[in-house]
Amino acid sequence: MKIPKLKISPSILAADFGRLNEEIKSIEPYADFLHVDVMDGHFVPNITFGYTILNCIKSKLPLDCHLMIENPAKHIHHFIESGAARIATHVELGEEMTKLSLETTKQFGKPAGVAISPKTPVEELFPYFGLADYFVIMTVVPGFGGQEFMREELSKVSYLREKFPEVEIVIDGGMNTATAPLAIKAGADNLVAGSFVFRSDDRIKAIEFLKSLEK
Ligand code: DX5
Ligand code: ZN
Repeated sequence: MKIPKLKISPSILAADFGRLNEEIKSIEPYADFLHVDVMDGHFVPNITFGYTILNCIKSKLPLDCHLMIENPAKHIHHFIESGAARIATHVELGEEMTKLSLETTKQFGKPAGVAISPKTPVEELFPYFGLADYFVIMTVVPGFGGQEFMREELSKVSYLREKFPEVEIVIDGGMNTATAPLAIKAGADNLVAGSFVFRSDDRIKAIEFLKSLEK
């Protein structure tokens, strides 16, 4: 079994959008990905931004796009053209849309992921084993940053890790000094952290803490 390198993905959802590129610069040398939460006000109640904002991002970090939108397959080419390094869409959209989204992203030669919301049973990921490059396990209800970590969702991580020792498992939501160690213990190898990083007095220290959890 490989020993995965722990990846840290700060989520710009918790950054100051008015000075986005400065915010990104403050964490760039320490992070592995920049997590980009796209919300449409339909799939989730909140609206964030579209691919035009990706075009404005000046960063060397790969853009890890988490699409919380309806009909993502229709928009994937725009996100790729605007710099997305990889794209995850939600399993709750159904098998046809999820497979189409995976295929579309892969056609552009980019890794494709499947995200799963709390309360959705892990079995819904079964059709994508072997197809998806990574899975995003949500430990908050998608839509907003700064929510409380839903510990019961960790069982999805341990289940997937046991079944697929090699697959990348991303944890998204509610990371802090108390919850990140639990995510690692369950088998996550990529931690998305919004508030914990961007709302911290010392962002570098916050990222260094997460990195120190590497097994
Ligand atoms: C929620 C988003 C998360 C969010 C996490 O819908 O998918 O990526 O930014 O924010 P925190 O780390 O504040 O829970
Ligand atoms: Zn996210």
